[in-house]
Amino acid sequence: MTREDFARRRRQLMRMMGKDGIAILPAAPVRYRNSDVEYPYRQDSDFHYLTGFSEPEAVAVLIPGRPQAEYILFVRERDPQRELWDGARAGPDGATADYGADDAFPIADIDEILPGLLEQRSRVFYTMGFHPDFDQRVVGWVSSLRAHMGQGNAQIPQEFITLDHLLHDMRLFKSRPELVAMRRAAQIGVRAHQRAMRACRPGLREYQVEAELIGEFRRHNAHHAYLPIVAGGRNACVLHYRDNDAELKDGDLLLIDAGCEYDSYACDITRTFPVNGRFTAEQRAVYEVVLAAQRAAIAKARAGNHWNDPHDAAVRAITQGLVQIGLLKGKVPALVRSEAYRPFFMHRTGHWLGLDVHDAGDYKVGGEWRVLEPGMVMTVEPGIYIPAGIRGVGRRWRNIGVRIEDDVAVTRGKPEVLTGALPREADAIERLMAA
Ligand code: GLY
Ligand code: MN
Ligand code: MN
Repeated sequence: MTREDFARRRRQLMRMMGKDGIAILPAAPVRYRNSDVEYPYRQDSDFHYLTGFSEPEAVAVLIPGRPQAEYILFVRERDPQRELWDGARAGPDGATADYGADDAFPIADIDEILPGLLEQRSRVFYTMGFHPDFDQRVVGWVSSLRAHMGQGNAQIPQEFITLDHLLHDMRLFKSRPELVAMRRAAQIGVRAHQRAMRACRPGLREYQVEAELIGEFRRHNAHHAYLPIVAGGRNACVLHYRDNDAELKDGDLLLIDAGCEYDSYACDITRTFPVNGRFTAEQRAVYEVVLAAQRAAIAKARAGNHWNDPHDAAVRAITQGLVQIGLLKGKVPALVRSEAYRPFFMHRTGHWLGLDVHDAGDYKVGGEWRVLEPGMVMTVEPGIYIPAGIRGVGRRWRNIGVRIEDDVAVTRGKPEVLTGALPREADAIERLMAA
């Protein structure tokens, strides 16, 4: 992403806000894991989207049409002693020189400066409820303005408007450079999964396969975008399995849901394959149903369809497949209507993908499913899970859990599967594992 990419976003947002608005966005806070140990710092996605500024203790303010400065950054001051420990800071000078701020101030001065910026602005765009401490300060600045208004003609803000609506709608449509970053994240994710498939064999522990994934992410300057799920055998039926410590058994399947973040953009990939490299008949039968459902869903990820069309297609294909292999009995339309597939397929078929793994953007507009448009990126991830406790299912099917997840960009033509280079067909997976 270039400086101009961030500047374009700010201009677009300011156009939508109008000249009586002011937007305030805080950077993500530093969070502590224990005593002095911090969690890895990651910038707030909204803040990053508009600024590209990666330091904590910063606040961005957008004031459309303000002659002196429309884009103001409050940042940490330079401090040789602190920088010796924690690394370089941009400081206010760097914020203007390197990040395109029209003006920048030390974060310590914000209480003095911000009330003045609110003056003459009737609408404050700010998303309440995520940072309670910061919410209080924003309210405090408005209150202090009211207290000092006197009999002058200063105007105080009349309205708080959540910034989400405008900003998250922008984030939903990926620009060309964003798609470049997402293709790169997908490519690294694909390599990591290929590496895991090649490394897998009976007797390994799940964490040893996880190490292959993480290692490949880091070799390409990416990080995991969420904790990888490396789930052998029945663990695949725990949707958010986290332990990743069991032994991988001959004859079991291994479900891996792992994706990386590159240049702040995520990929999100799931593959399911046999630990010993060969599917059993039952595993393959279930696998083929999930794959058919995924293909049907991806085919619906086209401009003009609505958000739920891929899910509807997956539900139909999974229901039909479960009838074919004998796990459901009855007529497909009736089974779809009664949601008979639910004990086997209990989650949605996908979500938006971008800076966040579960990315910003509404799924419904005015109570209706959103119409798909070019530039939207989503996951398509149907699954079938047959935990041991499920009733009315023969033993040979138990503990099979299969999910196949790819990342799909809606285009003007056919869907672009960003993760399409990773084998999906059962035969292709067996070939890759044998190689
Ligand atoms: N990896 C999280 C998800 O698939 O939604
Ligand atoms: Mn996902
Ligand atoms: Mn996933």
